[in-house]
Amino acid sequence: MTDLLKKARDYEAKAAAQIEPEERPAFHLTPYVGWMNDPNGFSRYDGKYHLFYQYNPYDTSWGPMHWGHAVSTDLLHWEYLPCALACDEPYDRFGAFSGSALELDDGRHLLMYTGVKEIPVPGKKEPDVRQTQCVAVGDGLNYRKYAGNPVISETDLPAGSSPVDFRDPKILRTADGTYLCFAGCRAADGSGDILVFESPDALHWNFRNTLFRSRNRIGKMWECPDVFTLDGKTVLLSSPQDIRADQLEGLSGNCALAVVGEMDPDSGSLREEWVQPMDYGIDFYASQSVLTEDGRRVMIGWMQNWDACAEREKDQKWFGQMSVPRELRIKNGRILQSPIRELASHRTNPEAWRGELDGDRQTTPFFRGRTADLEITIRPGGTGGFRRFEMRFAQNETGSVYSSLVYRPEEGLLILSRQHSGTCRALLHERSCHVYSPDGALKLRVILDRFSAEIFVNDGVQTISMALYTGQSADRIGFHSDGRGMLDIRKYDLV
Ligand code: FRU
Repeated sequence: MTDLLKKARDYEAKAAAQIEPEERPAFHLTPYVGWMNDPNGFSRYDGKYHLFYQYNPYDTSWGPMHWGHAVSTDLLHWEYLPCALACDEPYDRFGAFSGSALELDDGRHLLMYTGVKEIPVPGKKEPDVRQTQCVAVGDGLNYRKYAGNPVISETDLPAGSSPVDFRDPKILRTADGTYLCFAGCRAADGSGDILVFESPDALHWNFRNTLFRSRNRIGKMWECPDVFTLDGKTVLLSSPQDIRADQLEGLSGNCALAVVGEMDPDSGSLREEWVQPMDYGIDFYASQSVLTEDGRRVMIGWMQNWDACAEREKDQKWFGQMSVPRELRIKNGRILQSPIRELASHRTNPEAWRGELDGDRQTTPFFRGRTADLEITIRPGGTGGFRRFEMRFAQNETGSVYSSLVYRPEEGLLILSRQHSGTCRALLHERSCHVYSPDGALKLRVILDRFSAEIFVNDGVQTISMALYTGQSADRIGFHSDGRGMLDIRKYDLV
């Protein structure tokens, strides 16, 4: 083991012991200690799910990227394992960036990641950056970097592709045993391409073709590709940077999306049928998926927004968390998401309320909880229906602090906000999406876990999620309407 990896492992074991379980979410993965971003190497290996993540153990800010490591049998209870990769080689000294994992024929676990190095340029302030693809092989606990790293570098790139922005390899195996690697790369016009490389042994790679070209239609560099088949379609998950609101349903910044279509067998490229955001909330990025033993495609994302990292508590011992694992399926030309079904077995203390909200901003009914699962259906009541429906959660005793989900049916708008969550930062605190309720009813499933809220709209047609740092004593949940609304609520605690 290198000194840098040993240092990280010694440090994290000591520092993580200072974090009480109640200081973390109950079932969302947070870093062992320090900073987490993207999920990496989400895979099944040796009877467990392995989830690695972009990790800086030494600070709650982004820094030298290690790979943190956790395992689970149900994707809800996670056990921390020691840090898997440090940036301890000349080719990854600046960071071991995102990547993926699979099991080799000989039973070893292979990690494929991006090694980043900086090359000083005489007379220039900024160094030159090189991103290359590297592998490490291990037993599910300890990994050794391949002596022939990097396995894909600048010289393997097609003409015009950038060696500076070339990252996040997704490795998979085809039916004939060929290994494929999909990586994000910036094309000559500054936009994101998804390149495909092939290999007989996962060590020797050749460029094969371009899977997808974004041609500056949505954002710039496309990060973190994942490719799989789902209900007969080919899905490319990726997270473009620098999106403008006119490019993706009003969302801006860095957002996770899916391109869904069919593979063109001749060119090996993806024939796009539709594009959809994978979440309309503030915090969801860099998603990756795994196939469960029983054949479910489950996606997880980093429940954080790069542009909102200042939204935090001063004394926080960890920063960054994963979303709830989400099962994916395709229905009526759209990927639908639902929280992994194992979550239902953690429901306790069922409570229900059904009735009419007939008020001018009444607060009816009242629940409590910050780790909760709510199923809510709201439909127009009386003759005029309602103009506005609001659910407030993570609300304190006086009502001065709360987060909210507002539905304005006339505009078909659903708005998630943490503006009143107690934040002291002048950041993005609100996101909205257009929702559809053909029969006038809106169905919501709300998953709360201490530091987050994830909302699944109309059986997962859309999701809208955010992190929040309101103190845990603010645990009230209330409902209001302007006008008449019929409300049906089932609420469970999650333990
Ligand atoms: C996405 C990303 C990846 C990169 C990693 C670095 O959030 O920018 O493209 O590999 O983070 O930590």
